[in-house]
Amino acid sequence: MIAQDNNAVIHREDYQPPLYRITEVALNVHLDPENTEVEACLHFQRLTAGPESELHLDGESLELLSILRDGQPLAENLFRSDATGLTLLNPEPEFLLETRVKIHPAANSTLSGLYFAGGQFLTQCEAEGFRRITYYLDRPDCLAKFTVTLHASRKTCPVLLANGNCIAQGDEDNDWHWARWEDPYPKPAYLFAMVAGDLAVQRDVFVTQSGRSVTLEIYVAERDLGACDQAMESLKRAMRWDEEGYGREYDLDRYMIVATDSFNMGAMENKGLNIFNSKYVLASPETATDTDYQGVESVIAHEYFHNWTGNRVTLRDWFQLSLKEGLTVFRDQEFSADMNSRGVQRIGDVRRLRSAQFPEDAGPLAHPVRPDAYSEINNFYTATVYEKGAELVRMIHTLLGKEGFRRGTDLYFERHDGHAVTIEDFVEAMEEANHYDLSRFRCWYSQAGTPQVKAEGSYDPASRSYTLTLQQSTPATPGQPNKEPVPIPVRMALLNTQGEKAVLDKTGAVEKVILLEQASQSWTFEGLPDPVIPSLLRGFSAPVRLDIALDDQARSFLAGVDDDPFNRWESAQELALKTLLSGVKNHQELEVLPAALKQALSATLKQSQMDPAFRAELLTLPSEDYIGEQMPVIAVDAIHRARETLLDKIGAHFHDEWLGLYQDLAGAYERDGASIGRRRLRNMALSYLIHSDHSRHEDMTLHARQQYVQADNMTDRLAAFQLLVQHPKHDAEDILLDFYQKWQDYPLVIDKWFAIQAMAPRPDTLRHVQHLLVHPAFDWKVPNRVRAVLGAFSMNPTLFHAADGSGYAFFAEQIRRLDDINPQTAARLATPLSRWQRYDKVRQQGMMNALQLLAAKAKLSRDLAEVIQRSYPASPGSA
Ligand code: TRP
Ligand code: ZN
Repeated sequence: MIAQDNNAVIHREDYQPPLYRITEVALNVHLDPENTEVEACLHFQRLTAGPESELHLDGESLELLSILRDGQPLAENLFRSDATGLTLLNPEPEFLLETRVKIHPAANSTLSGLYFAGGQFLTQCEAEGFRRITYYLDRPDCLAKFTVTLHASRKTCPVLLANGNCIAQGDEDNDWHWARWEDPYPKPAYLFAMVAGDLAVQRDVFVTQSGRSVTLEIYVAERDLGACDQAMESLKRAMRWDEEGYGREYDLDRYMIVATDSFNMGAMENKGLNIFNSKYVLASPETATDTDYQGVESVIAHEYFHNWTGNRVTLRDWFQLSLKEGLTVFRDQEFSADMNSRGVQRIGDVRRLRSAQFPEDAGPLAHPVRPDAYSEINNFYTATVYEKGAELVRMIHTLLGKEGFRRGTDLYFERHDGHAVTIEDFVEAMEEANHYDLSRFRCWYSQAGTPQVKAEGSYDPASRSYTLTLQQSTPATPGQPNKEPVPIPVRMALLNTQGEKAVLDKTGAVEKVILLEQASQSWTFEGLPDPVIPSLLRGFSAPVRLDIALDDQARSFLAGVDDDPFNRWESAQELALKTLLSGVKNHQELEVLPAALKQALSATLKQSQMDPAFRAELLTLPSEDYIGEQMPVIAVDAIHRARETLLDKIGAHFHDEWLGLYQDLAGAYERDGASIGRRRLRNMALSYLIHSDHSRHEDMTLHARQQYVQADNMTDRLAAFQLLVQHPKHDAEDILLDFYQKWQDYPLVIDKWFAIQAMAPRPDTLRHVQHLLVHPAFDWKVPNRVRAVLGAFSMNPTLFHAADGSGYAFFAEQIRRLDDINPQTAARLATPLSRWQRYDKVRQQGMMNALQLLAAKAKLSRDLAEVIQRSYPASPGSA
């Protein structure tokens, strides 16, 4: 067999079921940071007849020490090993394979497979990390029962964990000990996990709906024990929610969560033993912001929900990734909506979709929610698979209704529990449980690109009717030049001049979901005595770009009265966006605040009864990224300047209101939703106050300095810190130093310290970031820290995209360096370079140069190679 090409492309259509099944796995692991030995005993059974006389087992960076078949050493002419694994020649229909391999956890900086970091042994096996632990059929459709025995030094590793239940433990010579874990549920290798270290534990109990007691354990470093309450409470809420909403109960006696500072992603749903980035476990008022608290709650819930959507029902192959991720994101979004304010939650979800997924869908990395091909699967843990995937599930929910959706998931779990299945299986369950035809809907899974919907409507006084015409089209994406229309559920209402919803049909409905299935369709609503203004895509009922010609007056009206919180916010955003876009074109336009915008802001400022979090959303200007997204060529500097000027104008015009809010909303720290909203709005007022400086003689940064010193929580302290550090003129050296000294022992807080500096829109930021990379607290091996500097810098619109190309060149140098340490994180961080088409010629050249520099790197990882290759222009100079 020829060694597999490192950049070989894997196609969805080529799926073949496995030749063999592995019924049972017994692992014996002798944990040593330098040299760990893994003994694996695998029971193989042939599944399919057929001519194949070889069985390939995946294996990577393994040193084979010994190999036995059915207890006998395997003759050298009966197997072969290479960089991709081990091939058994003429294997029997059924046999026991015993291998012994050596691996090196401390030297493993990829954080995939078994690694040793921060004094702990940890594993990360999704997507294909198990092959770095032992030879195996490392594919999600190979489900096996695992028994794992860990051996380690009792002194350095008093705690030994693996999936399932601990069935035995004992002592060994030389102060070592061992523990044996058994997971009764067959699982794919990507859900395998093992942890060993010196960990403290916070325990609790959850009684399931059927009355079983489940022990809940959160493992953290001793000194973090006080910061686990939010995680524990969120876990219990998530467990209850899944029982009530989906009838899903937890299925083991123990649920464990381990926190680590060294992790490539957010968290991992290993069966019964989740491993988490500590960012999504630890939270205390002094160290975590309100946003951090919410992040903990949603990620804890996400990983818990995977126990059914992902683990009990798992994936046939990695092309089906969105089957678990899209569905689980939808579930965690709904959970958070139920726990907090639904409207505010939806606005945040859509913001994330628009800022991460829409650009992805519009660039060279665009791919369907169910991709057709990949070279490195880790590159497909994307906003498209996660966030757009969740939107597709949400649309199914909208089409079938709450009860219909539940019938669908019930059937899905009933049919597929314990199996490895496909997105198609999910869609079929939804269809069959509801006798609803989703054939056209499937196109959403196979077609990339964000559909554009153009809406036109007119009221005819003579016939007292309103006619609405919707047209859709989807721009071409790589490999998909021609697009089909997709079924787009448009939730809608028509508002009369009093702001009341008009009756839309004979049933008396005032809100409806209409389905746009063709390229163009019209609807007529009759019996309307007065002209109406359409409120379309309520709740953002489909992941599309909506283009609707409404004048400022209508938008301002909707921003004031629409009872759909998402649409109300959207109207306010559109007003601000329009002002910003005209200011980008011609800065003079920003001399005076447009009347409609002023009126909308003023109305919101007066609504003291409104939920403060929602009020803050209404008062937030679209981000520089979002403004850029609306332009054919992203005018980096003009966008920044226009947005800053508009902030100044709004700050100055409403100075007294901001000051009033800032003073009225002060209060002692509480953790409830109302207090969170209050802090959010108050910190926004502070930001506008500082922007009001320009036209006044007082120094508003004094308020920020005072808040920084006096804050009794991290939300307020960090808000003030950020305003001071990122202020273009303010000298905040003393604050930077003070913050560092106070929080240097808290890595998650120091990540913020790094990130806020890297995102500062100040002329000296690049030089500053260069210094941060040699700061003693910077660590190339810790992804959170690398993201805090390089990830944050790549999101700094004006510095990353500096016209002289300095930002790109610097960035590419660092990615090149990171690729040798952690290819997964390097590839992910490099993706902003793929957006070159959206910038002017000079910047395009700078971005190309950066991509070229990376392409020329020696020992380029498969991860990074794929991102570069897909980002690269088909024909240089095109676009
Ligand atoms: N399945 C994880 C989640 O969604 C994602 C994940 C965690 C992951 N770690 C990873 C994916 C490493 C790829 C590689 O919660
Ligand atoms: Zn997930």
